[in-house]
Amino acid sequence: MSEQATLGTAVVTGASAGLGKIYADRLARRGYDLLLVARRGDRLDEVAASLRAEHGVKVQTLVADLGAAADLERVAQVVATDPAITLLVNNAGTSTLAPVAQTSNAQMQQMLDVNIVALARLSHAVLPAFKARNRGTLVNIGSVLGFHTLPISSIYSGTKAFVVAFTRGLQDEVGGTGVKVQLVLPAATATDIWELSGVPMSNLAEGTIMAAEHCVDAALAGLDLGEPITLPSVNDAALLATFVDAGAKLFGASQNGKPAARYSVTS
Ligand SMILES: NC(=O)c1ccc[n+]([C@@H]2O[C@H](COP(=O)([O-])OP(=O)(O)OC[C@H]3O[C@@H](n4cnc5c(N)ncnc54)[C@H](OP(=O)(O)O)[C@@H]3O)[C@@H](O)[C@H]2O)c1
Repeated sequence: MSEQATLGTAVVTGASAGLGKIYADRLARRGYDLLLVARRGDRLDEVAASLRAEHGVKVQTLVADLGAAADLERVAQVVATDPAITLLVNNAGTSTLAPVAQTSNAQMQQMLDVNIVALARLSHAVLPAFKARNRGTLVNIGSVLGFHTLPISSIYSGTKAFVVAFTRGLQDEVGGTGVKVQLVLPAATATDIWELSGVPMSNLAEGTIMAAEHCVDAALAGLDLGEPITLPSVNDAALLATFVDAGAKLFGASQNGKPAARYSVTS
């Protein structure tokens, strides 16, 4: 069997633009066949045609609104049952950056539905199949705002904090198996998400924005290195270890069964 045939199919959500479109390109270059998911079918068709022509891989598209329950379920059924799928990149995401009081209910719901519900459901759908085959890779795209919150990012950060906690739990679940789960936490990266969020990139400090190609290439390099958590723009890798260690220590310190002394609770 050729190497290409053994790689199988990579599913990339949010492949019509931004990081997902670049993931699709890089995975096609590696020899994966692709299943590309997003709402804008015309864009997916363009991406698919160019990847077929350039890399000679099979590319299917699936037009779906991952914020809509019926569409999400349609995608979930595919990832749960197609035995060719070996990699799922849960990349689709959406952001409104504004104080909660200036965020509509629809905008909030969209973030919850796409960033949390869809990512969780598709992870939930694909993992049993990966575990049964003892093979497969799940990549969940979070954000550095998953462990830091700005006054305009309460909802977005909350959704990305879910991605961090959920994906770290999944990593423990697949420990000792042939299944890999990578958590990718990009910082500001040049994509349409900023304009869509209401905060154009021109508002960001100079030198803080990564090229989208660099972000995906670093994330894939992290995957190749076997990193469970990849922070494409963070040089000091020890900071992550300190953060994870502090969380574990804080949890450990909470397993105490009685109020802390400073609260002076006596009865
Ligand atoms: N760019 C950054 O600075 C940055 C930083 C940290 C994390 N991230 C994360 O990286 C991921 C990719 O974001 P990006 O920057 O590449 O954003 P983007 O350029 O806006 O692309 C978002 C992608 O998600 C798809 N999408 C959005 N809502 C969808 C829905 N309801 N159903 C199906 N697909 C949907 C979009 O496709 P359609 O519109 O065609 O549906 C598009 O392909 C997101 O999870 C984001 O939170 C980005």
